[in-house]
Amino acid sequence: MTHFLDIDSTPQDDLRGIIDSAISIKNTRAGRPKGAPDDDQPLKDHMVALIFEKPSTRTRVSFDVGVRQMGGQTLVLSGADMQLGHGETIADTARVLSRYVDLIMIRTFEEQTLLDMAEYATVPVINGLTNRSHPCQIMADIMTFEEHNGPIKGKKVVWSGDGNNVFASFAHAAKQFDFELVFTGPSPLDPEPALQGLYTIERNPDHAVRGADLVVTDTWVSMHDPQSARERRHNQLRGYQVNEALMAQAKPDALFMHCLPAHREDEATSAVMDGPNSVIFDEAENRLHAQKAVMRYCLGK
Ligand code: CP
Ligand code: NVA
Repeated sequence: MTHFLDIDSTPQDDLRGIIDSAISIKNTRAGRPKGAPDDDQPLKDHMVALIFEKPSTRTRVSFDVGVRQMGGQTLVLSGADMQLGHGETIADTARVLSRYVDLIMIRTFEEQTLLDMAEYATVPVINGLTNRSHPCQIMADIMTFEEHNGPIKGKKVVWSGDGNNVFASFAHAAKQFDFELVFTGPSPLDPEPALQGLYTIERNPDHAVRGADLVVTDTWVSMHDPQSARERRHNQLRGYQVNEALMAQAKPDALFMHCLPAHREDEATSAVMDGPNSVIFDEAENRLHAQKAVMRYCLGK
């Protein structure tokens, strides 16, 4: 059984294979209408469950469209509408769903929910974001970086802001794809201790960004964070906003990324998000191609 649970638990060669496959999938479809089927239909007669316990725009639509382009069908399920949201265990849910569908993608809160799903399902399981990580996003981000600026190996990536789940997948990727990762943010919002050794810390954002090949940020308040933390976090993170002055410290051809959704003028200004270095909409598009490669990998297609 080949799950796609996290970047740190997927073999390095497999990760590289997924990126190469994603680029090839994208190139093969270039210029086609979005609804046109792929030439090959690896998911023909396959049913895919997409479970969301949190909101989503990109993950929901890109997985749904990707499955359809590959000839499969989807069931988009809200956790709250399932018995899962009313006390049924994840283990029983996993065993039941495995009798109906060929693949499960889940966006959930605790990492343990994802791990339980993978343990008890008899079909592959894909992580569509947990409180801990967001591996599909970072696969799309690696693909996007390499499309624009070549191999990411040896490059300097700077994360400015909250040490959250998206940062964690960047940290996993730094080891697997061999790039330098610098975290700049306030100490109360440092990444989880388990990630130490995968990145360095520089509290001064101007110093951190010097010579960067890629500058990344994300929302200051994630979906699993209490809304009551909002004001405090804004005060803590205001100095880490990615604006034109900060981007000016990076290399002239440095890319700017944000997984979206963004809060414009908070973590990043519109001048940066819509500026010449920004590749945020390529990142969003590449979710589609990267996840098609992930699904093919999981199904051995
Ligand atoms: N980046 C991302 O995962 O977006 P959604 O929350 O819209 O799926
Ligand atoms: N860190 C954000 C990412 C959203 C795609 C969150 O978890 O809400």
